[in-house]
Amino acid sequence: MRSKLIAGNWKMNTSWEEAKSLFNSVNEFPSNNKSMAVCVPACYLAGLCPAHPNLSVFAQDCSAHEKGAFTGEISAAMLASLGVKGSLVGHSERRQYHNETSELLKRKVDQLLANKLTAIYCIGETLEERNNELHFATVTKQIEEVIGHLSSTQMKNIVIAYEPVWAIGTGVTASNDQAQEMHAHIRSFLKTTFGEVANDIQILYGGSMNAANAQALLACEDVDGGLIGGASLKVADFEFIYNA
Ligand code: PGA
Repeated sequence: MRSKLIAGNWKMNTSWEEAKSLFNSVNEFPSNNKSMAVCVPACYLAGLCPAHPNLSVFAQDCSAHEKGAFTGEISAAMLASLGVKGSLVGHSERRQYHNETSELLKRKVDQLLANKLTAIYCIGETLEERNNELHFATVTKQIEEVIGHLSSTQMKNIVIAYEPVWAIGTGVTASNDQAQEMHAHIRSFLKTTFGEVANDIQILYGGSMNAANAQALLACEDVDGGLIGGASLKVADFEFIYNA
């Protein structure tokens, strides 16, 4: 049985003082049957780990390399040594602004898994792809190219985040039907590729999830939680979503 995961993606926001205050507030939410995670800026990871047992700390990115002369990079082994639970991989902002390719993302996933960390692998189509009815093909390809080589055992350390690019930071959310339809498609593809483990893989929805729409989205059968950007920076909104 899949549990629900509510994950905040702080992106490049907050001062260290703000980060500690936000983190402490989230850490004190009375726990319910959902898990919680925050994906925080890399420079705050050491200061925020370890968290409350119900709250995991994630990075927003990690290196595709194991170690060595890669100035500015942070390895999966470094994250593991801090007690970080895992990392986002393939967020559309990294694909778009940092030209991250499937080949690179695949190596990042491999580094995370080699260090016993969890990858929250982000996928999603652009508006143009959806308008051209290419949305299913796009996410299928993103899964095949980056995690298609994993074993069903390795898939236990993968969380999928479906984030339609047109919904990220725009205030436009996928409708409940659009979200459920895509999540069911993703699960069915995972089943074909990896077998029954697909029933246990969490598939999060991301893209303008907020206090007003979270409850209905989270009620969809195949939506196992949310990856929340803007609303995760506001304590009251994030708590409302966590309790939705
Ligand atoms: P948003 O961001 O909730 O601000 O749309 C989601 C994300 O990018 O993970």
